[in-house]
Order: sequence, then C-alpha cells, then structure tokens
Amino acid sequence: MAALTLYEYRAAAKERLDGPVWDFLEGGSGTESMLSAGRAALDRLRLRPRCLVDVSACDPSVSLLGSRLAAPLGIAPMAYHQLAHPEGEVATARAAGAAGALLTVSMFASRTLEDIAAAATGPLWLQLYWLRRRESLVDLVRRAEDAGYEALVLTVDAPRVAHRPRDARNGFAVPAGIRAANMDPSVMSTSHGGTAGESAIARHSKEQFDPSITWEDLAWLRERTSLPLVLKGVLAREDAELAVKYGVDGLVVSNHGGRQLDFAIPAVDALPEIAEAVDGRCRLILDGSIRHGADIAKALCLGADAVFIGRPALWGLAHSGSAGVSSVLQVLLDEFEEVMALMGAAHVRDFGNSAIVHY
Ligand SMILES: Cc1cc2nc3c(=O)[nH]c(=O)nc-3n(C[C@H](O)[C@H](O)[C@H](O)COP(=O)(O)O)c2cc1C
Repeated sequence: MAALTLYEYRAAAKERLDGPVWDFLEGGSGTESMLSAGRAALDRLRLRPRCLVDVSACDPSVSLLGSRLAAPLGIAPMAYHQLAHPEGEVATARAAGAAGALLTVSMFASRTLEDIAAAATGPLWLQLYWLRRRESLVDLVRRAEDAGYEALVLTVDAPRVAHRPRDARNGFAVPAGIRAANMDPSVMSTSHGGTAGESAIARHSKEQFDPSITWEDLAWLRERTSLPLVLKGVLAREDAELAVKYGVDGLVVSNHGGRQLDFAIPAVDALPEIAEAVDGRCRLILDGSIRHGADIAKALCLGADAVFIGRPALWGLAHSGSAGVSSVLQVLLDEFEEVMALMGAAHVRDFGNSAIVHY
C-alpha cells in the first residue's frame, strides 16, 4: 500500500539507501541546528479558517513566471538524483509532469538536460551555481534554452558548500558510476575523490565556485539569456530590495534546507519581511521543511506564490522511483486541496495574511 504521509517515505528511503548517501541527503551544516528549526517555525504557525464559502470546486492552479502549475508546488534543485534511484532526474521529471508540478533541475543533475526534457511533460527550470569557469554557465544556459527550460535559478547562498560534518566524517564523494552529466568532466574531477575526514563536494566547491560575484555580475548573465531569472537563497529584506532593483524576476526564500549558513533564520520566518519589501514586484517561492499540504497554505498566507520541496522528492525516488515521487506529490496535493476546502479558500488568491496566526 502506498504510504500516507511524507514521513513514511522518509523511513522507507532510509532503509533502502547506504549510510553515507543517506547522510548526504539528510544532513545539514555545522551543528545541524536548522534541520529542526525550520520545522518548528512552520509548526508555530496556525491557520484561521473561514466558513460558509462555496468550496465545491477548489482550484489550486497557478501560473508562476509563465509556467502553468496544477498547484503552487515544485521540486527544489537537488544534485545527483541517481543517488536515490538509477533513473535519477528522468524519473523525477516524469512524476513532476504527471502531477503538474515544476521541476528545478540542478546544475549537478546526474542525467542530461536533454534526457530530462524528453521525459518531462511539465515545466522545467534550471539551477546554476556561479562557476569560476564562465563558459560552463554559457553552455548550460544555451542548452537549457534549446531544450525548453522556462527559467534560470541562480543559487546565491553558496559561495562555497558549507562544512557538513556527516559528509566530512564519511569522506563523502560522488560515487563512481554517477556523474554530473551536464558538466565538463574536467570541472568535476575533485568531486569524485573521497578522502577520510573531508567531503569531496565541499572541496570541489571551493575549487570551482566563484565566491567573488556581486549584484553587478547579474547583468553578465542577463545579457546571455532571455529566460526569467530567479535568485535562490535570499533571507534578508535588503537583498530582496536589491533583487528588485537589479530586475530579478523571482526569489526562492530559502536557507538551503539547513545545509549552508548554520543558525540562519528559518526561511518561513524570513518570508513576511521579504514579501513586504518586494510588494508584488517579483515572485516569491519558499522552500525548507515543507512536509504537508498545510505548509503550502501557510507559505501562501505569508506572501509566497509557491513552495518547493527538497528531500521528500528524493525519499519518494528512493522508495520506488517515478511512482514514489508521484505518490509524494499526490499526498501533498491531496492535503493542500483539503486544506483549501476546510479553510474556505476556493482559489489560491484567497489565502491572505488574515488567515494565519503566529504562536
Ligand atoms: C541532497 C540535496 C542536494 C541539493 N542540491 C542542491 C543544488 O544542487 N542546488 C541548490 O540550489 N540547492 C540544492 N539543495 C537545496 C534544495 O534546493 C532546497 O533548498 C532544500 O532541500 C529545501 O529543504 P527541504 O529538503 O527541507 O525541503 C540540495 C538539497 C539536498 C537535500
């Protein structure tokens, strides 16, 4: 029988995956303070329903930067889906398309952008880290455009990958047989060399990521694409204001699932001030600890246009490939549709600030 909650997929995934792979997927940076903090922040929010509203046909659909979605739900960029299942991102894309959810493909995807696009029936976005070798970015952007990707997501909370103790302890490296399928192998060689006491992923990022980029560099990327540009990893209203000033189309309010700055503010706590600052001038997506349809409603009440899930998609993938990701998405969609009905929200636009209470 299919699992009924996302946490059941988590338990099944943990049983199926090797210890170091599980640690890479689940782990956080530093003291891992943020793994529980993100969840606690969402749990402190409570919904304030309205009644006697016609909810006989709730409509959860939205349009996000031109991408049509069945609900305000997408999958966050995550590297190397083949760690969870041999079909990797191709399986994830099939499931996302069937559910009408967006898939953001990581720059470090383990399947090619073209193979993922061929399997997808829904919208795809491409995520980038800013590499020292800018030709790699130009190549990826051109390929994404040719394959029909609909937006670019530049991750801005990772001038380098943070110290993640579990990966360091395991000497974690990308296993032989799995590779960043869209990257020139010469850019990726260090990510495969495991050393006890050091994460190859962290070492690779120090070598390849460009930590010197600033707001001024965004123009360079803009000049090379007509796709909408989304920044991922913004947590401060000052940066949200700068993003609007620099013509960014969307923000993912995110602390990278607790994998970058330890003790960063939970993304959901950063959302209200960012929503106030951008005041509708760019689209807002929330990620981090989204585990229930009610979390989607909470994010919308606080000003988000959509949410992304991260790890739960990989739990589904590890559980049973594409079918598992489909089930994870379906659980969330069913929960969200029920929350809409019980909240008296026939449309996504009916969620507002008055529908939420902080405890
Ligand atoms: C295994 C794993 C790999 C990730 N890889 C990337 C990546 O390549 N690029 C990126 O911007 N974020 C990456 N992230 C962060 C996610 O996009 C997202 O911000 C986070 O997982 C959301 O939190 P959640 O897992 O609690 O839902 C990764 C997260 C995980 C768990």
